[in-house]
Amino acid sequence: MNSTLNSAIDVSRGHRFFGELTEQLSADGPIELHRLRAVAQYVAENPTRFLSWLKEILQDGVAMRVAAARSYWHPNGFAKLVLHTSAEPEFRIRLHVWPLISDEPPAGESNPHSHRWEFASTVLAGGGLHMEEFEETTRSGKLFDRYRYGADPANRAALLSDGAVRLKRVAAPHVRRGAVYQCDTDVVHTVRPIEAGLTATVVIQGPRRVQSTVVYCEPGQSDDQPNGMLTEAQFRWLLKSVVAEAGA
Ligand SMILES: [Fe+2]
Repeated sequence: MNSTLNSAIDVSRGHRFFGELTEQLSADGPIELHRLRAVAQYVAENPTRFLSWLKEILQDGVAMRVAAARSYWHPNGFAKLVLHTSAEPEFRIRLHVWPLISDEPPAGESNPHSHRWEFASTVLAGGGLHMEEFEETTRSGKLFDRYRYGADPANRAALLSDGAVRLKRVAAPHVRRGAVYQCDTDVVHTVRPIEAGLTATVVIQGPRRVQSTVVYCEPGQSDDQPNGMLTEAQFRWLLKSVVAEAGA
């Protein structure tokens, strides 16, 4: 990364609320789930100050270009805006945005899946998210094909077939605006917005804990769809939409 881009990130670091978040995440000791949750809770209690940071990013063309370049579209049509990354200590601050594109509640992450890292999130705008959490079972339950990402050392991006299993639903939390959700690497879940209209969540992502994740697909279906490129213009539009909706 060249010095211009580095200095743009330093500009972002000048925002007081952003500084408070990174200070909490960079404090001594490992970044464990309770700390991720505390930071997400801090955002939930201070949405106006978080929006002020988003407005600052909108005013800084270079910082926005850097953030847009590492952001992307999920195949189901929502955006993952990577606002900040830190390598040491390892954490990310992301904004997930389901834009207003139809009268129907949009799709989310509809295949049950796990994550390599722990995270905590809070709903910044919209009606919230509906999660379903699952466990494998040998008894009655819906049948899925199981795949693993990251399990092939020669190709971490490969999706490896790993048999057929049954899943049972073990929890179905609703996370409304201002509430906090937490997730460790053992959790297998799906996520979808509760309502039509723009929904946005702030995700505080911790360090990678495991090499591989699991994803379950209905028989005959594949989850091997690429993420989509997200342009700088789309990044700006999404950020402005979130600021307008959450600040209303
Ligand atoms: Fe997830």
